[in-house]
Amino acid sequence: MHPSIAATLLVALNPLPLLAFPTLSSRGVEKRPSAVSAKLAWDALLGKRGPATASVALDGPPCDMSLAKMPSAPSPLPPPSAGLTLSHVVVGRGTQNYTCASASDAPKAAGALASLYDASCIAASYPSLLAAMPPVALDNSLPKPVSTAKASKNGLTPALAGTHYFTNLTTPFFDMDTALHAYGRGGFAKVAGTPAPEGAPVGPKGRGNGSVPWLKLGSVSADEGWQEVYRVNTAGGQPPSSCEGMPKTFTVEYAAEYWMWKRA
Ligand SMILES: *[C@@H]1O[C@H](CO)[C@@H](O)[C@H](O)[C@H]1NC(C)=O
Ligand SMILES: *[C@@H]1O[C@H](CO)[C@@H](O)[C@H](O)[C@H]1NC(C)=O
Ligand SMILES: *[C@@H]1O[C@H](CO)[C@@H](O)[C@H](O)[C@H]1NC(C)=O
Repeated sequence: MHPSIAATLLVALNPLPLLAFPTLSSRGVEKRPSAVSAKLAWDALLGKRGPATASVALDGPPCDMSLAKMPSAPSPLPPPSAGLTLSHVVVGRGTQNYTCASASDAPKAAGALASLYDASCIAASYPSLLAAMPPVALDNSLPKPVSTAKASKNGLTPALAGTHYFTNLTTPFFDMDTALHAYGRGGFAKVAGTPAPEGAPVGPKGRGNGSVPWLKLGSVSADEGWQEVYRVNTAGGQPPSSCEGMPKTFTVEYAAEYWMWKRA
């Protein structure tokens, strides 16, 4: 098994009311998290100090990933292939790149760059908190790396698990093998896409052109690692519909959940 990195999720008990954090009721039904708790959870993943007086330790995998249920779009993506199990769930925060050849064109997708934060155990235990995190991540500025030394002084471990980029125009790549852990890495190609649901964020602070589609990606790497990756609960990243007035290359900020599936 992969070595795991402990992400300590700090919970505000004071001065914020207990309600600020989702709790499991006696029936095991998760209460809806407030934007405040999603912000606290996002800050904790970044390794930033929150107004915390108590903590809940959420280790990276192994936690019971069979409890995590991948969200489904109104027009659903094909399900994960038979024989795959969920490996990791990360929140990605970065930019989508676009190019404009001429003013009469529509912008063309040209890669992306994002930092990936391990939210696997949040996915397993607090699904609605996880769903609230991409919009909160988008509304907060692109994260600056927090040094491990500074974070551990705050009693935290940054949950930065790797990077997402493109190796060519059609090959999204996820690299989660770092100095701290070897979770996996690989190149993918698009298998299917579906528009982000009605009500997805338009962009940071309510300004922008919408949220990028949800995607299913299939591995193009020859190894036995991750076989499929889903991009869901997208927030932002969509370009304007026309190149009118746009530069030749530009970026649009986004956040999303990525669900990584491996052979069982
Ligand atoms: C996309 O944009 C980022 C940030 O501007 C850049 O670092 C990256 O190399 C760009 N290119 C591709 C193909 O993703
Ligand atoms: C991009 O990379 C993939 C995977 O390595 C490869 O199969 C594909 O041919 C490449 N496409 C171009 C246009 O170079
Ligand atoms: C769409 O994106 C463009 C470029 O980023 C921006 O100038 C424009 O204001 C956006 N549209 C809306 C409705 O926010």
